[in-house]
Amino acid sequence: MENELKIPSHVGIIVDGNGRWAKARELSRSKGHEFGFQNLQKLTTYMYRKGIKYISAYLFSTENFKRSDNEVNFIMNNLLVGRLKEILEFCHKEQIKALFSGRHEKLSAKVLKAMDQIETETKDYRERIFNICFNYGSHAEIVDATKKIVEDVQSGKLKINDLDEKIFSKYLYQQLPPVDLLIRTSGEQRISNFMLWQCSYAEFYFPKTLFPDFKAEDFDEALIEYTKRDRRFGGISYENESN
Ligand code: IPE
Ligand code: IPE
Ligand code: MG
Repeated sequence: MENELKIPSHVGIIVDGNGRWAKARELSRSKGHEFGFQNLQKLTTYMYRKGIKYISAYLFSTENFKRSDNEVNFIMNNLLVGRLKEILEFCHKEQIKALFSGRHEKLSAKVLKAMDQIETETKDYRERIFNICFNYGSHAEIVDATKKIVEDVQSGKLKINDLDEKIFSKYLYQQLPPVDLLIRTSGEQRISNFMLWQCSYAEFYFPKTLFPDFKAEDFDEALIEYTKRDRRFGGISYENESN
């Protein structure tokens, strides 16, 4: 079976259910994020070992600022800034190139500095790419791309008639292949403003497991399910189908 598994190149993960996981244990939501953070390291390690090259993880949306200051501060300051050393050690140990996708506005100088340090220190790794979607929204990304396109058209750098899907995608935050497999944990079956452009032909997988409990064997299940999917991209599966 192992040999027959199809391995996606790019996996998107909408990390969801940290809050419900904590609630079920009478813990604070922040504790849920802490366990989610630990699990993310174990899970990505496993995923890269299975041959995934690109992982995009949705960790904080542009809409997540609606949450309490306590929760937002914990994610920003205790996890990202407070665990900077641990994040860097992890990236170096696993030889992961980390990228951040999202808007810088609303992020503090300390958070931006940590993000910059992570990107700079890991920039030379090539094999494993970890795209961290942080203060990320797909609508924001598309608007930001459009603004840059308009600037380039106004300055004469880009001709409007040359704009096509390929050129448009060069204005997105990252130059990564499209998402092949999108996993959202916790049973929610929605995309919540994640990589709308990049997921146009992704296979969607919605396990009920809450993110801190989503382990290597759950990812194996996702791969088995992905392997069964017939990806047609608008074409047909068999050459000799009748009309
Ligand atoms: C995902 O877990 C992490 C973030 C969105 C920051 P949630 O915090 O959304 O967990 P639930 O959905 O409340 O259980
Ligand atoms: C989506 O999860 C955002 C991230 C995982 C970072 P949410 O928990 O914020 O999404 P909704 O509110 O349930 O759609
Ligand atoms: Mg949620």
